[in-house]
Amino acid sequence: MAKMGTSSRVAAAIVVVLGFVLSLAVVCNGGKTSSFVRKVEKTVDMPLDSDVFKVPPGYNAPQQVHITQGDQLGKAVIVSWVTVEEPGSNTVLYWSAYSKKQKSEGKFTTYKFYNYTSGYIHHTTIRNLKFNTKYYYVVGIGHTERQFWFITPPEVGPDVPYTFGLIGDLGQSFDSNKTLTHYELNPQKGQAVLFVGDLCYADTHPNHDNVWWDTWGRFTERSVAYQPWIWTVGNHEIDFAPELGETKPFKPYTHRYHVPYKASGSTAPFWYSIKRASAYIIVLSSYSAYGKYTPQYFWLEQELRKVNRSETPWLIVLMHAPWYNSYNFHYLEGETMRVMYEPWFVKYKVDVVFAGHVHAYERSERMSNVAYNIVNGICIPVKDQSAPVYITIGDGGNTEVLATNMTEPQPAYSAYREASFGHATFDIKNRTHAYYGWHRNQDGYAVTADSMWFFNRYYHPVDDSTSAQ
Ligand SMILES: [Fe+2]
Repeated sequence: MAKMGTSSRVAAAIVVVLGFVLSLAVVCNGGKTSSFVRKVEKTVDMPLDSDVFKVPPGYNAPQQVHITQGDQLGKAVIVSWVTVEEPGSNTVLYWSAYSKKQKSEGKFTTYKFYNYTSGYIHHTTIRNLKFNTKYYYVVGIGHTERQFWFITPPEVGPDVPYTFGLIGDLGQSFDSNKTLTHYELNPQKGQAVLFVGDLCYADTHPNHDNVWWDTWGRFTERSVAYQPWIWTVGNHEIDFAPELGETKPFKPYTHRYHVPYKASGSTAPFWYSIKRASAYIIVLSSYSAYGKYTPQYFWLEQELRKVNRSETPWLIVLMHAPWYNSYNFHYLEGETMRVMYEPWFVKYKVDVVFAGHVHAYERSERMSNVAYNIVNGICIPVKDQSAPVYITIGDGGNTEVLATNMTEPQPAYSAYREASFGHATFDIKNRTHAYYGWHRNQDGYAVTADSMWFFNRYYHPVDDSTSAQ
């Protein structure tokens, strides 16, 4: 009996030790925490008289020109710009090498925010464009016409290659300018930007000084006048300031940045979807109600059913607050939305979720945490090949503190994390493969500091994890 007791105690001890080792493997065997150290100087905003903020010359010259997709398929473009001296014209003149000059008429709007009055903000949608065609367009009249161009996407289809850029939390510091330059000079050549929220950070200035919305519009024009940026709202777009008498959330953002939300059956501009080439892109709002019975919940429930992977194999979701974030900054801020929607993302096999908010970079392995139901206590994320990869790309370069403080040890679900500024590209090759690369600002334009081959979850759902586990 005594001998049996000893051996069972030894066996029990072995089980305990093994269990401890296994749990260490689950908890500690994370991916890579990069040792790269960025510059130590503080990030500061570019001064108001910087060349990148320059007002274009001429009376009432259009400024802050920006475009975004104007329908669900990519045959329409919303052109927006601001005139300052007077309303001027709402007309966009446009043509391609194969078509005569045509005109489209839009509308303008203005708004006041505390002691700031906006310029005349014009929005004109051009429709019935041909796919995969370069169009030139002109805004403004008389001596202050300004000409730009864009290329429409190829027709939606399962094997259409397309390269998206990814930028988040850009702001308007010297580092923001570096991020944008690196994106522009990246030889991967992004064709449209998926922007994951937090544009100009005007709300970090006294009285939310909206002049910084205007400077940001002029700063980013060099990219967004030529290729569409797909907008997601972040917390810095809320501009809720009851102390200033400003109680309508998203007022500056909704006046300045229009999105084609009605085309996807959405009832508000904060959540919507588009198709572009072989991708179906769902944009969600971390700062609008998303609980059960809310408009966003009902919309997303219907929306996910509509995705036809034989038409658009790549299912991409954008949001601002990340669900999986192993930095201490903004920890758990995406948790309540994750609880609501994560089972759907696994069920519908979302390929990748891009978020911002945390001013750093992180990429997860495919894992889910959908078993937990309060009473069962199962609350550790598990590897799940039906789950998306979660990427936090809130490292555009704004002046708020770069998130450097990470939870230790690195959780198993975290494949790579680094507190540096940068951007990424998601380069779809065909229905099965996409190459993803993250570029830090300190490297050469072609260098990827982190990369991954994505295998499509619908057509090629084999394990594409990158950590040795
Ligand atoms: Fe944010």
